[in-house]
Formats: sequence, C-alpha cells, structure tokens
Amino acid sequence: MELLLLLAMVTACAAAPQDLTDKMFTFPQESNTDYVRLTTSRQNLGAVTACLRSFTDLRRDHSLFSLATPSAANDFLFFKMAAADEFHLWARDKQTSVVGQDYRLNTWHSICSTWDATTGLMQLWLDGKPSSRKFVSSGSNINGPIIIVLGQDQDSYGGGLDTKQSFVGMMSDVHMWDYALPPCEIKSYANHLTFTPGNVLNWKALEFQIIGRVLIEDNVSTCQ
Ligand SMILES: *[C@@H]1O[C@H](CO)[C@@H](O)[C@H](O)[C@H]1NC(C)=O
Repeated sequence: MELLLLLAMVTACAAAPQDLTDKMFTFPQESNTDYVRLTTSRQNLGAVTACLRSFTDLRRDHSLFSLATPSAANDFLFFKMAAADEFHLWARDKQTSVVGQDYRLNTWHSICSTWDATTGLMQLWLDGKPSSRKFVSSGSNINGPIIIVLGQDQDSYGGGLDTKQSFVGMMSDVHMWDYALPPCEIKSYANHLTFTPGNVLNWKALEFQIIGRVLIEDNVSTCQ
C-alpha cells in the first residue's frame, strides 16, 4: 500500500508540467539508454505538426522526433540521414525523403514537420523554409496510446532503441499541435517570434521523464 502511494507520487511528480523556456535538453553521449519520454493523453490525431530546435555534429543517421503507438512504431517520425542534405519523414509506418536541405553541423536549426491524414501529405520546414510536399499515408489517423521519445528512435512501441540512431547534441523548444500549423506560424516559430504554443506538447508546460544521461541546461551563448 505504501509502495503504491509512493509510486503514485513519483508518477505524479514526473508528470507535473515544467516551463522549460530558455532551457535545453543536452544529450551528451551516444547510447541506447538515454532519452526523454514525453507524455500526452491524446490518443487520436488526424493531423500533426511537431517543431523543435536542435544542435549536433552527428554525421550518421539519427532520430529527431519519434512517436509510436502499439500499431505503428513509426507513427510520426522525423529522421536526419547521414547524407548532409537529407531527412526522412514518416507517418503511419510509411516514409518519404526530402533532399537538398541546407543543413549544417554545429548550428542551431529550427525543424518542423507536418502531416495530415486527409491528404496524406508531409512537409519539412527547416529554418522556416518549406520542403516539397510529399504523399506518405492517408485515410487513417494516428490512434492508440502515444509514446514520444527524444534522443532515440523507437523501432518498437517504447523500445527497440539503437545506439547508431541515437541523438547526441542539444534540443529545445519542442512543441506539437494536432493540426497542420499554418506557414506563417511556422515562420514565426523559426524566427523566435510569437506563435501559438503546441496544444499536444508545449515547451512552456512540458510533461516529460528523463531516462539515463540527459541534462536540462540553460542555452548560454553570451558572456554575462
Ligand atoms: C541558443 O542561443 C543561440 C545564440 O544566442 C541562438 O542562436 C539559438 O537559437 C538558441 N537556441 C535556442 C534553442 O533557443
């Protein structure tokens, strides 16, 4: 009974939303054990936009945002390929690639991806610049209890983590919406202007759990 109460309290603590404004997650090492798990009670999404900022010097494949449900490990995912200019976008376990992206190492990038079950189209927005719109999957929603992971790629629901697809670097400003964010809003996000915070994930009220070696740090860039 006491153990149950303790567990309930620990769970409640982990779930308490935190305002991470001006903070970042630091993923300091390659592993298949270190990640951040994001919590949402939403279970049915007919459209998605997810945005984040990231900084890395990885030259290999790595996951940036991994959303899984029991029926689809790659229900919504964006993934940086080893090729400097290439990303893979996934929805409902289907995938497309976008190339010719102006992506540099050791630079903060704003990265957003959108998907909509009606048209089935996905699009990447890198630093506020849109990719070509590509068909990936239409006609069925993301459905079921959602697990979102930063820092690792889920090859199965909540698991199947692979060191060689892990993220090493820093991430910040993670938001997710249950609709395709209008281009102007994406540009505002990219330019650090005012935008509508995510209604599924909100960096100013983020529910998350850190597993392993991931740190919350200030994005200190200037001399005080
Ligand atoms: C961190 O600081 C740098 C320098 O001020 C800035 O360019 C970058 O956008 C910041 N990162 C985030 C996630 O705000």
